[in-house]
Amino acid sequence: MKIKKVTKAVFPVAGLGTRFLPATKSIPKEIMTLVDRPLIQYAIDEARAAGIKEFIFVTSRGKSALEDYFDHSPELESTLRKAGKDALLEILKETNMDSGAIAYLRQNRPMGLGHAVWCARRLIGDEPFAVLLPDDVIASEKPCLQQMIEAYEQTGGNMVAAMEVAPARASSYGVLDIEEDLGAIVRVKGMVEKPTAEEAPSNLAVIGRYILSPKVLTNLNKLKQGAGGEIQLTDAIAEEAKSGNVFGYRFRGQRYDCGSKAGFLQATVAFALARPDLRDEFGEYLTDLMALQQAAQ
Ligand code: UTP
Repeated sequence: MKIKKVTKAVFPVAGLGTRFLPATKSIPKEIMTLVDRPLIQYAIDEARAAGIKEFIFVTSRGKSALEDYFDHSPELESTLRKAGKDALLEILKETNMDSGAIAYLRQNRPMGLGHAVWCARRLIGDEPFAVLLPDDVIASEKPCLQQMIEAYEQTGGNMVAAMEVAPARASSYGVLDIEEDLGAIVRVKGMVEKPTAEEAPSNLAVIGRYILSPKVLTNLNKLKQGAGGEIQLTDAIAEEAKSGNVFGYRFRGQRYDCGSKAGFLQATVAFALARPDLRDEFGEYLTDLMALQQAAQ
């Protein structure tokens, strides 16, 4: 079986981000920073490491800060160059994208994740593609999408990142119905969106990394014609599971749900403690804070 290389990735960033209001009234959620980098930078770095060459953003009103972030900033760069601040110039380089490597599309109404991905159909064409939700940030030795692409090269089809969750947490996720457990990879026969603990068909939940075949776009097309409310990506993927073409991948790493306040704060602490320039000072502060809290109880 000849498996086509995955070189395109879609970043759906057109959601309203209501869990972060009022901040998201004027700041796109994806521009919020973990330590000193916006969430979107982590997703782009992960995609680049996995060999992605074309980056497709599905955006909406009020997200222009995202577009500016990936542009050159001639004034800032020339000021830093004159001041000999080469280290800062190097850091800025990571934010620059080659001309033509990045495309922005508009989703004119937030009609759901499935609809956002469908908006990118013309740029994707007849190729497999990755989808990364930037509010899922994954800390791992090997970037999550790279792990998935390596697994996908064995299976083809469609692949979703999966992580184990406690039954009580299943209702926050799409949960995999497993046909065959092959270890890191599972073959999926269905997906249940937000089940109760009793309804959950397994403990494997889908998180925001996908490798999808163009057939999913065809399925989204059909859903779009029939849908009244939001168009769910899960439904379009589940359709493919009927023919045994969907795999879950148990990635190695820690996922943070940075679309929620608690997840964002956890990621901030974890990423700060992982930074050599902050670890000591910040770690000491946290230890003191915990001691003060315990003394007060
Ligand atoms: P979320 O479910 O996290 O929704 O979307 P949200 O609007 O961003 O945030 P809350 O729940 O209101 O706080 C998951 C991903 O899908 C994108 C979001 O931008 C996010 O990356 N999305 C969602 C779209 O691009 N369009 C949509 O219509 C819905």
